[in-house]
Amino acid sequence: MPVPIIIDCDPGHDDALAIMLAAGDPAIDLLAITTVAGNQTVEKTTFNARRVCTVAGITGVPIAAGCARPLVQPLRVADDVHGDSGMDGPRFPDPTVGTVPGHAVDLMYRILTEHPEPVTLVPTAPLTNIALLLTRYPDAAAGIHEIVLMGGSTERGNKTPAAEFNIFIDPEAADIVFRSGVPVTMCGLNVTHQALATPDVLARLDGLGTELGGICAQLMTYFASAYKRLWGFEAPPLHDPVAVARVIDPAIVRCVDASVAVELHGQFTRGATVVDLHRYLDRPVNARVAVELDAGLFWDRVIGAVERLGARTT
Ligand code: BDR
Ligand code: CA
Repeated sequence: MPVPIIIDCDPGHDDALAIMLAAGDPAIDLLAITTVAGNQTVEKTTFNARRVCTVAGITGVPIAAGCARPLVQPLRVADDVHGDSGMDGPRFPDPTVGTVPGHAVDLMYRILTEHPEPVTLVPTAPLTNIALLLTRYPDAAAGIHEIVLMGGSTERGNKTPAAEFNIFIDPEAADIVFRSGVPVTMCGLNVTHQALATPDVLARLDGLGTELGGICAQLMTYFASAYKRLWGFEAPPLHDPVAVARVIDPAIVRCVDASVAVELHGQFTRGATVVDLHRYLDRPVNARVAVELDAGLFWDRVIGAVERLGARTT
């Protein structure tokens, strides 16, 4: 049986591929797409989710817009990585897929309380919507099977020396999620940096011979130039689909149990995920932490999903 999920995202080049992987892989039943401010404003990330669904032929999956800013601090967008639109690079057709009325958190709550089985939440963005869901609707937790998120790192950051972008943008929200008692799997930079969109991957996407495959290759080409310019990477890491891949097949992403705390006060370390892999601290395990990616299996699933969606729209 496909796993029912809601993806909470801020598209974003890698969020776009995460949506396509979730919609195009038979192991997933994508119930909704919710958006949040992060890589760009929520207006732009919502518009981008609509553009992705339009170009990928994803219809019948509700899209709802969520929080416009982090819980406590002002929003800082990642236009250096994702451009002014949040998804610079390809030319997209005007979106024909719309949004549903109401707030993302209310849509999530409705689905969680009405769906016959517990639902997996897959956040690939700052955790503002998820924290709001858990605080506003405490009974929502009963409808959540687990939260499999992209964010944090067992090592260094990509927004500050210590903090990864999704956690750094809304540390209070991340703190609420990691302390919620809901099972959490964290796919951080230490594992997403193993998902490199190499020239071979771009050639496979382009080689699908579909409009969608070409758009994905163009998204990755833009992402590659940003990663080269900002961090000197030879190929860009496709972060967000790693969380979806973990849900599709746990064998793709090996995890270990650990305690994870979000640093809220450090002078230079606010937004860091303190992952106690070696049990130095006397803290209970509250997360599964991704440590190793099977890159071959991962890319086969991503490219397979794009191929499936592309065949439907060509
Ligand atoms: C995360 O930050 C965003 O820019 C990406 O979409 C991803 O979710 C990586 O740190
Ligand atoms: Ca993202």
